[in-house]
Amino acid sequence: MQVNRKMAVLGSINIDHVLQVPHFPRPGETLTGNHYQQSFGGKGANQAVAAGRSGASITFIARVGNDDIGQVVIQQLSQDNIDISAVEATDDAATGLAMIYLDDRGENTIGIYPGANALLTEEYVQKHQQVIIDSDALLLQLEVPLPSVLAAAQLAKQHDVLTVLNPAPAQPLSNELLALIDIITPNETEAESLTGVAVNTDDDAYRAACVLHSKGIHTVVITLGSRGVWLSIEGQGQRLPGYDVTVKDTIAAGDTFNGAFLCRYLENTDQQEAVSFAQAAAAIAVSRQGAQTSIPWREEITDFLNQ
Ligand code: RIB
Repeated sequence: MQVNRKMAVLGSINIDHVLQVPHFPRPGETLTGNHYQQSFGGKGANQAVAAGRSGASITFIARVGNDDIGQVVIQQLSQDNIDISAVEATDDAATGLAMIYLDDRGENTIGIYPGANALLTEEYVQKHQQVIIDSDALLLQLEVPLPSVLAAAQLAKQHDVLTVLNPAPAQPLSNELLALIDIITPNETEAESLTGVAVNTDDDAYRAACVLHSKGIHTVVITLGSRGVWLSIEGQGQRLPGYDVTVKDTIAAGDTFNGAFLCRYLENTDQQEAVSFAQAAAAIAVSRQGAQTSIPWREEITDFLNQ
């Protein structure tokens, strides 16, 4: 099944090099890993894949290097129900990559080399502006240059395109950018870095959401890990508990949530129902290994919800 309303994702593509270790290495320590996997990742690509597999009509705006792995990534994206006409290769940088340590508890630490992602410039956004203009919604994250994120959000605003920002990885953001956002989806750490409120309880989540609403954002969705999600619409907040699953690997759990959430929201415009659908998708993702290898297709999400 395919959702009629269109979405665009603008963001990063990385090759993830994932080393499973008993614990994260300390400075000066050399550790032997017990499993190594190279897989396709990048927050933008993961969110695009989650949307595509959930049944979205989705176009991805991104860049890879003009290298063998970049070509393989593009081919894979097209098999994930994604329009790749705005994913271009550049001769001036290699495909982006991420070095990821994954520990025994499924937690991870990530270092990134942006490569071609750094060349997703304002001019590149302009070149592919029609994709945004023709969409009902735009999904953004922060692994490509901030001026390009701002340019895309400004364009979306001018053309009444719903704009969703997943503010990851955490970094300070201008009020100018935040005022252009309709729905923001931080995790607890990102919510704290944007609002100064440490999010440990429902009351904290309420207060952090209020700060974000005061910047002009209509809907705040704070993901709280195993405690679920805080959904706040114009200051009316509630915690929606998630699903209890055995966690193998949290890589791309947030990305899966975002892509699935926006797909389902475009389908039926019920934010609470979209959260529940996205929580199911993320629950499946954390029970599997890898970034895009862990992201479920729609039938799997529907089966999970029916169980
Ligand atoms: O959110 C997970 C992603 O963050 C990984 O796939 C990695 O590429 C980094 O961008």
